[in-house]
Amino acid sequence: MFDGKKLDVSRFITEQVDAIRTQVGEDVVILGLSGGIDSTVTALLVSKAVGDRLRCIFVDHGLLRKNEFEDVLAHYRTLGLQVKGVRAAARFFAACKGLTDPEEKRKAIGKTFIEVFQEEARQVEGAKWLAQGTIWPDIAESRSDKGTVKSHHNVGGLPEQMHLGLVEPLKYLYKYEVREVGAALGLDAGFLGRHPFPGPGLGVRCLGELTPERIAVLQEADAIWIAALRESGWYDKVWQAAAIFVPVRTTGITDGRRTYEHVIALRAVNSTDAVTAEPVRLPWELLDRVQHEIIARVDGINRVVFDISTKPQATIEWE
Ligand code: XMP
Repeated sequence: MFDGKKLDVSRFITEQVDAIRTQVGEDVVILGLSGGIDSTVTALLVSKAVGDRLRCIFVDHGLLRKNEFEDVLAHYRTLGLQVKGVRAAARFFAACKGLTDPEEKRKAIGKTFIEVFQEEARQVEGAKWLAQGTIWPDIAESRSDKGTVKSHHNVGGLPEQMHLGLVEPLKYLYKYEVREVGAALGLDAGFLGRHPFPGPGLGVRCLGELTPERIAVLQEADAIWIAALRESGWYDKVWQAAAIFVPVRTTGITDGRRTYEHVIALRAVNSTDAVTAEPVRLPWELLDRVQHEIIARVDGINRVVFDISTKPQATIEWE
C-alpha cells in the first residue's frame, strides 16, 4: 500500500466490495477496459459489488498490439463481464494526423478517447459512476513537483467532463498488489503476468506521425519480439518489453541490392513500478534471432537496434 503497510488481500476485497456498494447504491457504473491488469481487476471488484449494473466499454483506438482487440474481448467474456467493444481506429488516426510532438499526440489520443467513451457512455441508461483502474504510481507520478513528465490519461479529465462520480478501488495499491488482488479474484497467471501496456498503446512507440501503415509495421515487429520472448522463457523474467518504430531511414542491402528503410528498436527492462528501469541483459542468440526474423518478415524495416538505456535518464517508453 502507498502508506507502506502490507496488503491483506482478502480483507481488501471485502472492504472494497462493501465500500463500492455503499458508494454507488443501486446506480449503474461504467468502466473503460484497456486490456490491462489494472482496469480488469477494477472491473472484477466492481462487478463483485454491483453485478450486472457494471457496464464495461473497450475502445479499440487502433494502437493495440496485433490481434489484441479480439483476444482481449474474448477473454473478458469468459470472465463474465458485460463488455461492449467499440472499433474507433479511424477516428484516432484522423485526430493524430500531422502531429509529431509526443505530448500533442498523447493529448489527441486522450481527447479522442474521452469523446468516443462519452458517446458510448451516454447510451448506458442510468450511469452515474465511472470506475477507473488508477493505481498509486499513476497518482504519485502525476503529482510530481517537478512538473508532468508525461501526461497519463488515467488521472483526471474524464469524470469531471462526464459529471460522473469516481470509483477507484485500486488507487492506493502498487502494481504487484493489484496482481495479488487479481489472482484472488480468479485471474490466471498468464493474464496477470502480462507486461504493462500504456493507455495510448503503440502511439507512444511509433515516433513521429501515426499512420495505419506505420502501426501495422510496428504490430508485426512487436508480435515477433513478444513471441520470441515467450518461446525463449524470457517474457516472465522481463518487467516490460516493447518494439519501437523509429521513422529514420538507413541504408541496407538485400540480395545484393541497396535498400533505404526504417528502423525498429527493441526494449526490454526490469523495474520496480516503472520509477527506475534497467535494460535486461538478454542472450545475444535471442536478439540475433529476432533481428533476423523482423528484417526478413516485416516490410520496410532493414535495421534493428536494442535500447540499453536506463531510467533515468531515459524513460521506458520512447515518447
Ligand atoms: P515511462 O516511459 O514514463 O513509463 O518511463 C513508465 C510506465 O508508464 C507507462 N506509460 C503510460 N501508461 N499512459 C499510460 O497509461 C501513458 O501515457 C503512459 N506513458 C508511459 C509505460 O508503459 C511504463 O510502464
